[in-house]
Amino acid sequence: DWTMDAYRDEAIKQIREQVGDSHVICGLSGGVDSSVTAILLHEAIGDQLTCVFVDHGLLRHNEAEEVVTMFRDHYNIKLIHADESELFLGELEGVTDPEVKRKTIGRLFIDVFQKYAGEIENAEFLAQGTLYPDVIESVSFSGGPSVTIKSHHNVGGLPEKMGLKLVEPLRELFKDEVRALGHELGLPASFIGRHPFPGPGLAIRCPGEITRDKLEILRKADAVYIDQIRKHGLYDEIWQAFVAILPVRTVGVMGDGRTYDYACALRAVTSVDGMTADYYPFSHEFLGETATRIINEVKGINRVTYDITSKPPGTIEWE
Ligand code: XMP
Repeated sequence: DWTMDAYRDEAIKQIREQVGDSHVICGLSGGVDSSVTAILLHEAIGDQLTCVFVDHGLLRHNEAEEVVTMFRDHYNIKLIHADESELFLGELEGVTDPEVKRKTIGRLFIDVFQKYAGEIENAEFLAQGTLYPDVIESVSFSGGPSVTIKSHHNVGGLPEKMGLKLVEPLRELFKDEVRALGHELGLPASFIGRHPFPGPGLAIRCPGEITRDKLEILRKADAVYIDQIRKHGLYDEIWQAFVAILPVRTVGVMGDGRTYDYACALRAVTSVDGMTADYYPFSHEFLGETATRIINEVKGINRVTYDITSKPPGTIEWE
């Protein structure tokens, strides 16, 4: 009889055997896999675990606070919040090519992670939220060959480079099993059911140049959109939903005045594994209400479009 409860106990036992008295570093992104990995390790080895959360300044509204509060305050896990947004946004200044964006973020990510991890004393292990499907096939993203990190913290080659051994307590599990384990470990449903969020974050939802200004507008619009989706009870029906801010400003009217602000695109898809996807068939009512809310509540946007491209031929992200 195989239950998640038994799996958890067995995983904890195995982690203790593997790690002994050594210290473990775990990259935390706030996604389900790394979150469950961190909590499981914490249950197994307590203070022998330190998590590193790299904040590249390309996170969504309140995201960094939510992650820090959950893991540091709620679970009492040792957590380094590496706030390196100045570094990332500085290096991304003037960069418009999607490939260069990804490469820049990937490179800085590894540098930053290595820097903070290097300061953790006696670390011997690096924990990763590798799942069974990652073990049997190496996943590559449509972003092209430059994407060498599958997710924020699946940092290829880094363990060897840093002389760390790997701990991968989820490597026998499929995604739905990881969710069940997260539930077993008391991770709130709001974390477990989260839509996927890409490693490069908002950078690939901001075609053209990334500026703090545009990021701020994007965060606000995205928060309103997700709020609408939750309010209408649609969040769990959708595989991924987000706003992209477009590199174009358009003319509008508001009150007596003329506006000249950014246009944005709403994206929502259904999918099984992200390899193919269909756009979500929102009602016109929902779309209209959402557009009105975004334009009224988000200064800087005066036009809202809905992206009805499926994958293929489109990708889910805009870059
Ligand atoms: P695309 O845009 O290629 O995305 O249709 C498929 C799924 O993968 C996510 N994605 C990424 N995730 N690093 C990640 O961790 C990346 O560079 C990356 N690019 C895309 C995307 O959000 C979607 O879920």
